[in-house]
Amino acid sequence: MNKITAAITAVNGYVPPTVLSNKDLEKLVDTNDEWIMTRTGIKERRILNEPGLATSDMAVEAVNGLLKKRGIGAEEIDLIIFATVTSDMIFPSAACILADKIGAKNAFGYDLAAACSGFLFSIETASNFICAGKYKKVLVVGGDKMSSIIDYTDRNTCIIFGDGCGAVLLEPNYEGLGVIDSVLKIDGSGRHFLHQKAGGSLKPPSHETIDAKEHFVYQDGKTVFKFAVTGMADVSAQIMERNNLSSEDIAWLVPHQANLRIIDATAERMGLGKEKVMINIDHFGNTTNGTLPLCLWEWENKLKKGDNLVLAAFGGGFTWGAIYLKWAYDGI
Ligand code: UT7
Repeated sequence: MNKITAAITAVNGYVPPTVLSNKDLEKLVDTNDEWIMTRTGIKERRILNEPGLATSDMAVEAVNGLLKKRGIGAEEIDLIIFATVTSDMIFPSAACILADKIGAKNAFGYDLAAACSGFLFSIETASNFICAGKYKKVLVVGGDKMSSIIDYTDRNTCIIFGDGCGAVLLEPNYEGLGVIDSVLKIDGSGRHFLHQKAGGSLKPPSHETIDAKEHFVYQDGKTVFKFAVTGMADVSAQIMERNNLSSEDIAWLVPHQANLRIIDATAERMGLGKEKVMINIDHFGNTTNGTLPLCLWEWENKLKKGDNLVLAAFGGGFTWGAIYLKWAYDGI
């Protein structure tokens, strides 16, 4: 029998209906559409602002649609890996809550926290579960309700992030399609530049931490930018080199959507024109773990069996990496 690889066999996404535009943000903080567009490429983002709804609720929408597309029931799922930094609660995991809400009665699962690289790390993890031969249907979900940890009086961060969630199904493939290679990295010394100071075991939430707004995202944008712009391009170039891929061989770059300038630098380093780069930062902003699956969802109908895709991300930690995969089905 041919070697097992793990291929994506279905994808779906969900973004909440409420739009938060740059014009809306102009009313909240001292900023303007022109600054946001030239520095980030973001025009608007979606916000989950209905009380009582959390990250898992966006996942329910994405996953139920995915199951319908693939024509399978939730009870067929073996494993759920949920990449998120905004789980509904500290515990139990969003994966547990999702399993209950969709009726995935035969699955085990857990959350994977790697900031903006969580979806990439989850794909690698899922791929290894499948290649080991025991698991046949692995759901990888990437999503965040970033609006729950954003300070809408801080212009450094509130312009960047949005809410959204995507999901993919991975299954065994015997034609050599699916995940081929990965370059994944962490360097915790970057933790000082992008983090949520309070709410964890180091600084449990208190009146003081709330007053100091330490339950919100803190980012030293300039420093993160410097590391991200080289980090994401380096691993993308590396994965091309060690798989003997030229820019002509690559059908699509699927980059994390943090800043259009970071995406452009990565594409340039790979020798790719804009027409080969999935970009949705203009209408969704940075949805953290949602960016990559939301791109795949939006571009699904353009993808063809055998297409070479490079997925790349950079995020808090620092965490970063690139995955080379061969798409397994013609767009629907
Ligand atoms: O997804 C996880 C990984 N995250 C990233 O990859 C994000 C990386 N960083 C970035 O994308 C960029 O650093 C930002 C978009 C966050 C900021 O862009 P920047 O070009 O690095 O701007 P800056 O922080 O250096 O600020 C430049 C100026 C400052 O004013 P002064 O000090 O030069 O007078 C800021 O105060 O722009 C000011 N500024 C703003 N002005 C209008 C900062 N935020 C805003 C704003 N509107 N929203």
